[in-house]
Amino acid sequence: MTTPAKVPFVDLVTMHRELESELLAVCKKVFAAASFIGGSEVEGFEKEFAEFCGAAHCVGVNSGTDALRFALMAAGVQSGDVVITVAHSFIATTEAISQAGALIQFVDIDPRAFTMDPGKLREYLETCCVLDVATGRYIHKQLGKPVTAVVPVHLYGQMADMDPILDLAATYKLIVIEDACQAHGAEYFSKKQNRWLKAGSAGRAAAFSFYPGKNLGACGEAGAITTNDEDLDRKAAMLRDHGQSKKYYHDVEGYNGRLDSLQAGILRIKLRHLSGWNEQRRAAARIYDQLLAPMSGSVVCPVESDSSKSVYHLYVVRTQFRNELQKYLTDAGIGTGIHYPVPIHLQAAYASRGWKRGDFPNTEAAAEEILSLPMFAGLSRDQQERVVETVSRFAASVVVS
Ligand SMILES: Cc1ncc(COP(=O)(O)O)c(C=O)c1O
Repeated sequence: MTTPAKVPFVDLVTMHRELESELLAVCKKVFAAASFIGGSEVEGFEKEFAEFCGAAHCVGVNSGTDALRFALMAAGVQSGDVVITVAHSFIATTEAISQAGALIQFVDIDPRAFTMDPGKLREYLETCCVLDVATGRYIHKQLGKPVTAVVPVHLYGQMADMDPILDLAATYKLIVIEDACQAHGAEYFSKKQNRWLKAGSAGRAAAFSFYPGKNLGACGEAGAITTNDEDLDRKAAMLRDHGQSKKYYHDVEGYNGRLDSLQAGILRIKLRHLSGWNEQRRAAARIYDQLLAPMSGSVVCPVESDSSKSVYHLYVVRTQFRNELQKYLTDAGIGTGIHYPVPIHLQAAYASRGWKRGDFPNTEAAAEEILSLPMFAGLSRDQQERVVETVSRFAASVVVS
């Protein structure tokens, strides 16, 4: 009897094999020019990625974390300001807020979409914040600090519910910085604007990660900020480059957070394939939805509303038997992930901040039940059938026992 082939959680080998000649050619081009920092590849990528996102500007940086931190700082978030986000994200979201000098505050997620619940944001703003008539800004009642920004996270490839978030931000004078690190190409239909918005064009600025496993991934570390705000673009470009306005003239103290030319060249090639890859992910998600439907009592598929086009960076199901299912799949040679097992407010890194279990119930319940199934461009129908057959065998065993 032959053992069934393994199904990886993500396959980065095949994609790079398929693009190998193009990728090596761009590396050779960069070597020949010996222009490793800045230059035409970085500028070309910035222009093309801004266009892809429907934004006027793009600043290539070293990582998604840098992109978030520089976007917050360049948008004017000051030391001691309050910034609101969700605890159901990768810790980089809050690292960037802290490292910009701001205070982290959380609101809970919508349990179906896994993104910021605008109702919870409204509740937070109405109960915790008060207008300071002298400055015209909203102040956190207990902390006595200005509430300056909100960071919705477009998790798993799906944009947060931006219409109500943008409305609340306008009322409370909040800067909106999108954490679009998992959402390259995702779209949201804004009923208010009567048009589809692309991730990276909805807020004052957005941060993207090009960590290798992302929908658009570099062959190393990389990230970008997109914005329609010219001033923010200029400030972010200075921050990533030691605060320089021109060589050796430093207007502010900045960082070494530049995107390098090799990564930019590689990203330009991959960007040409991104829409096609995203379509493949969306088609794979539809196949999972169909094949998993009979198990809806024990395994819940992700929900995509009519106003959302997710790019399925991850395909995340929910089940009460998450740990058992993950072990069952691992034993069958099927790769899975948990994004993320510990909500940010309960991470050891923040133990001294006073958050406790029970603070954000939807976030905490999700962390216990979520499981990311194999998902990548090029995932075959056979591979998906094998994943679902294994899930189905597991579900039957749960029902029987
Ligand atoms: C939601 C989210 N925010 C921020 C980041 C940080 O990106 P990077 O790893 O490129 O710094 C990531 C990357 O995994 C992410 O998934």
